Amino acid sequence: MTAEEERPAGDLRTGQAIEATIEKAVYRGRGLARVGGRVVFVPRAHAGDRVRARVGEVHAGWAEASLAEILVPAAGRRTAPCPYVPRCGGCVYQDLGYEAQLAAKEGVLRESLLRAGAPWEGPIAVHSSPEEGWRLRASLHVAAGRDGLRLGLREEGTRRVVDLERCLQLSEGTNEAWVELRTLLTENPKLGARVNGIDLLESPDGGARVAAVTTTLAPRQATALLRASPPERLTGLGVEVGRGRLHWLQGTPFVEMNVGPLTLRVHVRSFFQANRFLYESLASTVSGLLPGKGRVLDLYAGVGLFALPLAARDGGEVVAVERALTAVEDARANVRRNRLEGVRIVPTDVRQALAATRPEPGERIVLDPPRTGLEKEVVALVADRRPAAVVYVSCDPPTLGRDLARFAARGYRPDTVRLFDLFPDTFHLETVVRLRPA
Ligand SMILES: C[S@@+](CC[C@H](N)C(=O)[O-])C[C@H]1O[C@@H](n2cnc3c(N)ncnc32)[C@H](O)[C@@H]1O
Repeated sequence: MTAEEERPAGDLRTGQAIEATIEKAVYRGRGLARVGGRVVFVPRAHAGDRVRARVGEVHAGWAEASLAEILVPAAGRRTAPCPYVPRCGGCVYQDLGYEAQLAAKEGVLRESLLRAGAPWEGPIAVHSSPEEGWRLRASLHVAAGRDGLRLGLREEGTRRVVDLERCLQLSEGTNEAWVELRTLLTENPKLGARVNGIDLLESPDGGARVAAVTTTLAPRQATALLRASPPERLTGLGVEVGRGRLHWLQGTPFVEMNVGPLTLRVHVRSFFQANRFLYESLASTVSGLLPGKGRVLDLYAGVGLFALPLAARDGGEVVAVERALTAVEDARANVRRNRLEGVRIVPTDVRQALAATRPEPGERIVLDPPRTGLEKEVVALVADRRPAAVVYVSCDPPTLGRDLARFAARGYRPDTVRLFDLFPDTFHLETVVRLRPA
């Protein structure tokens, strides 16, 4: 330990320069170090790094610090392949080799579950992904200022738009569409100044690519400007003016996703898993973890990524609960198209659907909530049905840990934990947990 590290805990102060060795990775791409007995979080520092950092905010038991210099790099470090790292905050792990990223994410998952009071000491199967070109959907932000138009991604944790020419997470076709959109907005400054964002969605084979442009311009003006020179790389283009009013200008707002023998239509505004290489194995893993017959409840069902393959395999009843209108419409169209009449779409809030549906013996339940996880009442409603098994798909380890602790208090414990690296190079990770009655 250096003299700095040996200072008593109360000694850290904002602006102070410290040296520390990063002990482990924690969620959101931060490295954890201990200085004088106090925990210090250093963004972009990896386990094993020896760093110089500057202390930011100081809290009761911990402090934040910004990375100033890497004195001794961790074993897994490499030069990030993307020139925008670290300016663009999206890929906090890109300066780690891919194997080291996966090890860091597994550690982060175990740490998050432990901290939440739901420790998991069993094995975690890790599903890896190609590191580049995996992203099926992206939200581009636009900022027009004195320095010109910026079209890109938001710095992690801030609202600042980083102007990017291309992104390694996207396919070549989507990067080319991005260049076309930039030209369109730059050549039409009226449009550029009044566009807030662009949502892009691509089919896994890159054959279809659609965009929804959100603007504060009047509908007629926005439509005229976009129609004048629509990007060639897009098969569909729409404009949203005012709240949720989407006018479709060209092609359709949908792309198709194959899931084994099934084909799912997905609207640009519906949720769909972001990784083209892993969404099918995510769906087959969820089905594989729920063997047996009888009813399945697929809660937070989206367009039916889990519900439809489950119904196709079992031939039984699947109740798919989803409240977003575009996703509900997609799910209904997908049921018709794939002739899976056993799937019943319930277009409502999960809590209401649970309260309105009588439990059946042997029932199995899929949960795939947004980042905020499950409402406390939903955990209670699910556990009180005494399902034979629950598969919980989570994109946020801390809320997953909180919810697993709540399930444990109601007699449901994990017997399988898997990690899907749906978001290579970023700090995000997807977890699939099966719970059984204890
Ligand atoms: C993480 S996505 C999962 C979708 C789907 N399982 C998939 O993998 O494609 C969560 C979905 O839950 C829906 N949702 C969020 N809160 C909900 C609620 N309280 N009741 C019903 N649906 C909800 C969202 O609209 C979204 O489609």
